[in-house]
Amino acid sequence: MAEVEVKYGCAGVDWARVAETLKRVGMACHEPEAHRRAFEASHTTVFVYQGGQLVGFGRAISDGVYQAAVYDVAVLPESQGKGIGKTVVQHVLARLTSCNVILYASPGKEDFYRTLGFRKMMTGMALFQNAASMEEKGFTEPGHF
Ligand SMILES: CC(C)(COP(=O)(O)OP(=O)(O)OC[C@H]1O[C@@H](n2cnc3c(N)ncnc32)[C@H](O)[C@@H]1OP(=O)(O)O)[C@@H](O)C(=O)NCCC(=O)NCCS
Repeated sequence: MAEVEVKYGCAGVDWARVAETLKRVGMACHEPEAHRRAFEASHTTVFVYQGGQLVGFGRAISDGVYQAAVYDVAVLPESQGKGIGKTVVQHVLARLTSCNVILYASPGKEDFYRTLGFRKMMTGMALFQNAASMEEKGFTEPGHF
């Protein structure tokens, strides 16, 4: 297996590849420029390279003191199952050691986060921009649309 390199920050990131990766794994994707703005405005960003190629990433928004939320954790399909997703999340958490950390998993990916210590929230709530679509995909309780 080619060497894995983990980088914090956004220097040199290929935002088109970020958008393409999110699209390929079925996560919400936007124009590359929108991803650049979102990642650059985040508290912590992690990018994992293998053989010089970007294969996974993730980010957290945070006050840096006691609250944080993890978003956009994705690993290229051909690179999944090799510990890269775990590396991404562990490196994000390493910068948030004083924080409560929340996230919402893609439906079916909850056990990935359970292996990293996360537990389901009983009172988590969301006000999504695309609320009907998020309900349809199984992110929120049914019955509102
Ligand atoms: C979910 C995802 C980030 C996991 O990354 P990965 O590199 O494939 O996962 P890893 O190889 O690091 O797995 C770490 C651990 O989680 C477990 N795991 C990984 N995916 C899992 C899944 N879908 N369900 C249950 N457990 C899973 C692994 O077995 C491993 O367990 P171990 O530490 O006991 O060996 C990746 O599969 C992905 O990008 N999926 C599509 C996008 C997505 O759904 N992202 C999450 C958004 S919330």
